[in-house]
Amino acid sequence: MSLLNRIRSIFPEPADIPPPFRPALPVHQTEYLVDGEIRHWSGPSQEVLSAVCAPGGAGPSPVVLGDYPLLGVAEAKAALEAACRAYDNGRGAWPTLSVAERIEHAASFARRMKERRDEVVRWLMWEIGKTLKDSEKEFDRTVDYITATLDALKEIDRVSSRFTIEGGIIGQIRRAPLGVVLCMGPYNYPLNETFTTLLPALLMGNTVVFKPAKLGVLLLRPLLDAFRESFPPGVVNTVYGDGQTVIGPLMESGKIDCLAFIGSSKVADLLKHQHPQPHRLRSVLGLGAKNAGIVLGDADLERTIPECVLGSLSYNGQRCTALKILFVHESRMEQFLERYVAEVEALPFGMPWEAHVRITPLPVPGKPQYLANCVQEAVAGGAQVLNEAGGTVWGTYFHPAVVCPVKPGMALYTREQFGPVVPVVPFKTLDEPAGWVRESHYGQQVSLFGEDPGELARLIDPLVNQVCRVNVNSQCQRGPDTFPFTGRKDSAEGTLSVSDALKVFSIRTLVAAKDHAANKRILTDIVRNRRSRFLSTDYLL
Ligand code: G3H
Repeated sequence: MSLLNRIRSIFPEPADIPPPFRPALPVHQTEYLVDGEIRHWSGPSQEVLSAVCAPGGAGPSPVVLGDYPLLGVAEAKAALEAACRAYDNGRGAWPTLSVAERIEHAASFARRMKERRDEVVRWLMWEIGKTLKDSEKEFDRTVDYITATLDALKEIDRVSSRFTIEGGIIGQIRRAPLGVVLCMGPYNYPLNETFTTLLPALLMGNTVVFKPAKLGVLLLRPLLDAFRESFPPGVVNTVYGDGQTVIGPLMESGKIDCLAFIGSSKVADLLKHQHPQPHRLRSVLGLGAKNAGIVLGDADLERTIPECVLGSLSYNGQRCTALKILFVHESRMEQFLERYVAEVEALPFGMPWEAHVRITPLPVPGKPQYLANCVQEAVAGGAQVLNEAGGTVWGTYFHPAVVCPVKPGMALYTREQFGPVVPVVPFKTLDEPAGWVRESHYGQQVSLFGEDPGELARLIDPLVNQVCRVNVNSQCQRGPDTFPFTGRKDSAEGTLSVSDALKVFSIRTLVAAKDHAANKRILTDIVRNRRSRFLSTDYLL
């Protein structure tokens, strides 16, 4: 079968989908979690379309997966009020609970979450088109992240269980919660990136309102019960619906103390400006990125090419960390392209549950056409699509396109395409890619491919001040999750990692007393008689 025909027969008839991967459709979600109750909504709903299409005489059309509640302002405010009550200006049961008890609640959530793995993984495939392997990885990585967070919190607790005496002052310094946190994750990691802010925020004693990403919503439904059973009423609350309707009023209320948002800088700016006292709002933001891969004249192509393919096309290039532009030294261009294009052409494409599949349909409505327009604009400007059928659109499927030479002025040169298009730029001198990184609005990561330690070092030193991670002969990525994940310029605010997340969702607070006998007596009495949870030398093992 020709490649074009293979693309046109990518979507399976329902009977051809293996039974374990066939969800019972459609799913009408009416449930949302507020104040420890699963409530039911009978108002308007949002239809959920799959990244996967059904083939049809008139062409492929996305499978209807079901719908979820389009809550109104009153429901969103009820969620916020529940979170505020549970926090109660820091006097609520949750923010004053011992660290050990909070850990027990979160561990019980992780246990319950694991029981729903298969359902969540299946929804990840159907809602956002992530491959089975990557969906499983997203789930398992999230559970591991929670476990690692519990350990990191124990460590923080151990370190802060001691008194410090400095300059005649006795002090005990601990991390205390910020208040009510609004968590909003992105559609490309709707489970992982939502939970890697949500769980640390909870563990530090904050209460949370969370809104699922625009896509990847139904996958959280199996976990609502786990939240309800694991946390006290009002500690975790959900809002579903149109962001402008349900989030605007929450921000405008001034009652959100911390915004944890992974998405576009445009939306982040909008949300921050809605807060009446922006100086009171802490923000933890993961925003856009356009990470460059720079292939130097002496790069070992044997190792470079697989990293560039992984970096640019894992999950169809829909990772904030993806390599979204490749600068290749002109002396290696021919060799590079020949092998890179061959590897891209060999990537198996198909349905998310198919064995070994690497390229899958896209979940964002209109995205294939948007990408096709970007490619078309580059071609009109003199670039070529180098791989067979690159850029072919079939329903929600966009066949990866390697586009070269991409030049200044083309959308692909500066815009974050967030999809399976690989812009390749030849360069003569390092000033060109270095200048591009300097001028970019983004500042997340960069990958350097080369063998000369001197040349790499000369690049590393200025680049570490332009971005927040320089990868050597390795693709850009967030992990391991213990490493700091952040960005400069329009790419991020705050740093996330297992331990950093606990820090960004808390503030150091201390109790201090002049060092004299009477104060020592008082402090000793409080500690010995366990009169305070804060002022305590108990620690967790
Ligand atoms: O979309 C951004 C993700 O945080 C990237 O994570 O590098 O592990 O795919 P990853």
